[in-house]
Order: sequence, then structure tokens, then C-alpha cells
Amino acid sequence: MNRLSTKHLVGIKDLTPDDIHLIFETADNFKQIINRPIRKVPSLRDITIANLFFENSTRTRVSFELAEKRLSADVVNFSSSTSSVSKGETLIDTVKNILSMKVEMVVMRHAAPGACVFLSKHIDAQIVNAGDGTHEHPTQALLDAFSIREELGDLNGKKILIVGDILHSRVALSNIYCLKKLGCQVKVCGPPTLIPRYISALGVEVEPNLMKGLEWCDVANMLRIQLERQDIRYFPTLREYTMQYGLTLPMLEKLDKEILIMHPGPINRGVEVTSEVADSDHSIILDQVENGVAIRMAVLYLLAAQKDVNA
Ligand code: CP
Repeated sequence: MNRLSTKHLVGIKDLTPDDIHLIFETADNFKQIINRPIRKVPSLRDITIANLFFENSTRTRVSFELAEKRLSADVVNFSSSTSSVSKGETLIDTVKNILSMKVEMVVMRHAAPGACVFLSKHIDAQIVNAGDGTHEHPTQALLDAFSIREELGDLNGKKILIVGDILHSRVALSNIYCLKKLGCQVKVCGPPTLIPRYISALGVEVEPNLMKGLEWCDVANMLRIQLERQDIRYFPTLREYTMQYGLTLPMLEKLDKEILIMHPGPINRGVEVTSEVADSDHSIILDQVENGVAIRMAVLYLLAAQKDVNA
């Protein structure tokens, strides 16, 4: 099989394991290409992609733009803070106006969970979700799983611990869907108030004790506390959060094995991980960022091929 089963990428929930393996194999090829002296390929020449960011981003926005440019697509960038959204224009009107200028694909980040699914039902262009509120962040999960595969090989049976604010994290949900589809065992660790009640229905166990979780896992993915999405207090203070769930180098040195440390960024240094951990040999945080470009090239390339089938 060399085609994705979906026209859009709104969530990992919609992908099959074969889709994910195809994205990884395609990303392997693109990773080789972007490490060559000439990093550009003509695969998406004459395709125009709009990057619509209604919420702040550093990594995802830059990574998509680089991926699009490496594939020779025409790129238009939109940021809500400088647009007519501030004058009251709706999401659909904004997107329809941009699409009338002959745009084939939309990469969108939005604060509202489900915004990409909603948009995909109202417009003809293909949609790639770059993070929708607390719902999904599919390309982050793909680059995370790809980075683990690069370090540890086949993901089947690997033990992954996701630590932190699981309740508000689109990265956690997309990672859980992706890792479970690839045969991983997944546990989450964090304050009970930040663990969703439906977690066991996803096939995920809760490990309340961070040190026990570290002893169990092959990989620890340390998530950011999303204060901007928290409307009430979920724990007394950040200091107390860090005392229970913050990762330090002495904790890693106490283990009788090596584990990989991941973080999707942005990092709150000294809260979820110390700088010593973030910058240590255990950390693959910058590899994740590097792999994001190849993964996003693969997603855009495969979706563009999918459009030919659906046309
Ligand atoms: N990982 C991630 O989504 O980072 P940004 O918010 O900077 O895009």
C-alpha cells in the first residue's frame, strides 16, 4: 500500500497502522534528502498551501513552512493577530476567502477542539491539523513516534511513560492513539486532577509515582503544564508540582538502565525537567524537532497524492 486512507489529517484517531508506517517510510526518504547539499525536491510544485495559525507556535509553524518549501510548494502564512479575525470575521469566512485565491491545502492551528474537523466538512481543500485546542496534534505524535523508532527500532512492545498535564494536552492524546496503534504499552503520570477519567478506555494505565514510572519505561515524554488552558487550580503551586513530577538528572542516574527523555516543547526549564536533563545525552528533544520537518514533508506529500485519487 502506498496511499493514505484519509483525505485530511485531522487526527491520529483516523489513521490506520499501515498509514503510520507509510508516513514513517516516506519520512525516512525525506530525511535523507534534507541532509543532502541540495535539500529541495519538486514534489509539490504548483501546489499552494496556506498556514493558518490562530494560536501561537514556534516549532510547528516553522517546521511546516520549511517542509512546504523543501517540497517546492507555494506558501502563504496567516496569523490571526494581524488579520481581519480581530474585526469579527468567522473562521469559515476567513478560510473561504483565502481558498478563493486558489489554495489547495490548509495547515491550521486553532484554540478550539474540533476546529479542523469542522472546517473539513465545509471546504474542499485538504486540511492538516497543526494542533486544535486540547484535542489532537497529529504531526507531533508522528514525529515523536518516528524519533523513538529511530533510537529504539520497532515500537511494538516498547514502554512509554507520558508525564504531566494529560488533561489539557493534545500531544498526550495524539501520542496515546499513535503509540497504541503501533503496539506500545503506555502509562501516564501526573497529578490526579490532570488525568482524564476516560484514560483507561484508551488502554492506558496510570502510574502515580514518577520514580516507579521511570523504572518501568523505555521512554519518558515530559509534557508542559498548560497554565493557559487551566481555568481552575489543579495543583497548589508549580513548586509543589515540580517536587512530585519534575525530572532531575540524579533521578535518571539512580536508574539501572538508560531511558530516552522527550519533550514536545516549549520547555519550562526547572518545572517539568531541569536544564541538566533537557541538555543531557538522555534527551532527544532537538532530534524530535529535526524529525518534524521530514514527517511534515511526508504527510503533505502523501496527502497531495491522495487528492489525485479523490479528484
Ligand atoms: N510542539 C509544539 O507544538 O510547539 P509549538 O507550540 O512551538 O508549535
